[in-house]
Amino acid sequence: MKASLLIALLAVVSSSAQAGAGAAPQKAEVCAACHGADFNTPISEDIPRLAGQYPDYLARAMTDYKSGARKNALMNGQAESLSAQDIEELSAYIGSLSGKLKVIPLHRFIR
Ligand code: HEC
Repeated sequence: MKASLLIALLAVVSSSAQAGAGAAPQKAEVCAACHGADFNTPISEDIPRLAGQYPDYLARAMTDYKSGARKNALMNGQAESLSAQDIEELSAYIGSLSGKLKVIPLHRFIR
């Protein structure tokens, strides 16, 4: 009796955890098919690395794919069904991953 109540409670706790901010890795699974499980090892050369990119850059790109302002047959289809919250969560999650992207200081180009 007690054990079954505990199992029922655990089921409720774990399903509500998935609906919260912790859902980003799960939402990112479909993206990982092309961008790589670590978002740093894309499956082909014409797919960009995303790990460690600025979250606001990622959010802008996804928003533009969704609206059609940025055109790419693959990504327009991917972004179509994303909500504003999905975009925010995915951007924060992917941006928090470590990857090979680096910012080269501007003073190296402008003197
Ligand atoms: C079928 C393969 C595929 C899948 C799945 C996919 N992408 Fe992409 N993604 C691409 C390609 C190809 C590009 C480059 C498009 C371009 O040139 O604009 C790209 C570009 C991007 C960019 C822009 C990167 C930049 O440097 O400007 C972001 C952000 C992005 N994808 C996020 C996602 C997210 C989030 C998902 C999951 C919801 C996802 N992608 C799923 C193939 C894919």
